[in-house]
Amino acid sequence: MKKLFIETYGCQMNVADSEVVASILSDEYEMTEEERTADLILINTCSVRDNAEQRIHRRLRELGAIKRGRPGMLIGLLGCMAERLKDKLLQEEPALDLIAGPDAYRTLPELIHRAAEGEEAYNVTLSREETYDDIMPTRYAANGVSGFISIMRGCDNFCSYCVVPFTRGRERSRNPQTILSEAKQLLADGYKEVTLLGQNVNSYRYETADGTVTFADLMELVAQLSPTLRVRFATSHPKDISDELLHVMARYPNICKYIHLPVQAGSTSMLQRMHRVYSREQYLERIAAIRRILPDCAIATDIIAGFCGETEEEHQATLSIMKEVGYSAAYMFKYSVRDNTYAATHYPDDVPDELKTKRLEEIIELQQSLSLASNEQDVGKTVEVLVEGTSKRSEEQLFGRTSQNKVVIFPRGNHQKGDYVMVTIQSCTAATLIGTEASSSTKP
Ligand code: 5AD
Ligand code: SF4
Repeated sequence: MKKLFIETYGCQMNVADSEVVASILSDEYEMTEEERTADLILINTCSVRDNAEQRIHRRLRELGAIKRGRPGMLIGLLGCMAERLKDKLLQEEPALDLIAGPDAYRTLPELIHRAAEGEEAYNVTLSREETYDDIMPTRYAANGVSGFISIMRGCDNFCSYCVVPFTRGRERSRNPQTILSEAKQLLADGYKEVTLLGQNVNSYRYETADGTVTFADLMELVAQLSPTLRVRFATSHPKDISDELLHVMARYPNICKYIHLPVQAGSTSMLQRMHRVYSREQYLERIAAIRRILPDCAIATDIIAGFCGETEEEHQATLSIMKEVGYSAAYMFKYSVRDNTYAATHYPDDVPDELKTKRLEEIIELQQSLSLASNEQDVGKTVEVLVEGTSKRSEEQLFGRTSQNKVVIFPRGNHQKGDYVMVTIQSCTAATLIGTEASSSTKP
């Protein structure tokens, strides 16, 4: 068997896609963790911000150097950057032999063949139907405890800053039966947690002979597979996170009480420029619904600093919404123009870089204090932790996550990866809860 090395950048969707790719190529290639001995190196890329793309250009130069010492080695580029830059990349990056966009992975065997013959090899056709429904991913990237299942592809939202609708195409949902078989397989393989993935999972919708399956229905079906299988999801758009879904989450203890609900900005004027289709008040109304129906739910978010035309007042509104919600965690970014998006063609990128940086720093600093405050509320509580592995800092400590997606560190005792352990939280930092095992704690 030939050896395949895949390197994945960007979002969890890409991690799930790389596992699909490994499966498509499994007749000819087995996975290796060593790029130097690989026959084929695939880089699954992200285009969401310019710095993600620059990193990949640097990486391609490094891989080019390895390739020069290994005749016959092929290098391919997958994912969003492949879609965005298309065959232009083949000319600009001499190390590259082949290119496949996110909907073209089934054609990889043929592309590899063509590249090996020295022919031009790229396919970046987007599809309205492709969901990789019948492909059981090869779980090479997973830790054996927690796995990802992508339940839909593409995005129809067209937020004005975002390249994803251009790189991942139209929104389409997978057949729920194939999603359930994948979840059952994870369970049979000893996994304890599954995350259902999509750019906007709330718009999941699948028509069957018996009616429509919504995202709330799908969550319920997956949650019913086993009470010891934790179920998570990412990501939700605030415009359509329904009360129905929140009630399903409340009914099943194994559905994790964690919602990633990207706000992006705190003022209605800015949200309008971003084409987010909700106002500050509407967003806060959804937060109130979460607090009412799921009082123990943690809420995380994404924020963009320095988007086009951002005034000081709008920036202050972002800081104030962060405080008002009290996010447990946030992913925070400086705005980066993406070609072809509505913002790139209609608004000047007029916030100076130093000001973007300053605002981002203020946002990060505030989030540090909010994360710490959120963690401090857990000190003294006993929480259920699913163990994911040994702590990076010490062999004697395990780390895992709570239902609220908080990282917990505690002494190993007799436990191992995959165990559920009740842990009493003794102290914390902004990033971690630190605890000790509560007496009589292990769940089956
Ligand atoms: N610039 C900066 N951040 C962006 N994001 C998406 N597009 C851009 C951009 N052009 C952020 C959003 C999104 C997350 C995945 O990346 O916050 O939720
Ligand atoms: Fe990056 Fe978005 Fe593509 Fe994921 S879907 S890899 S976040 S551009």
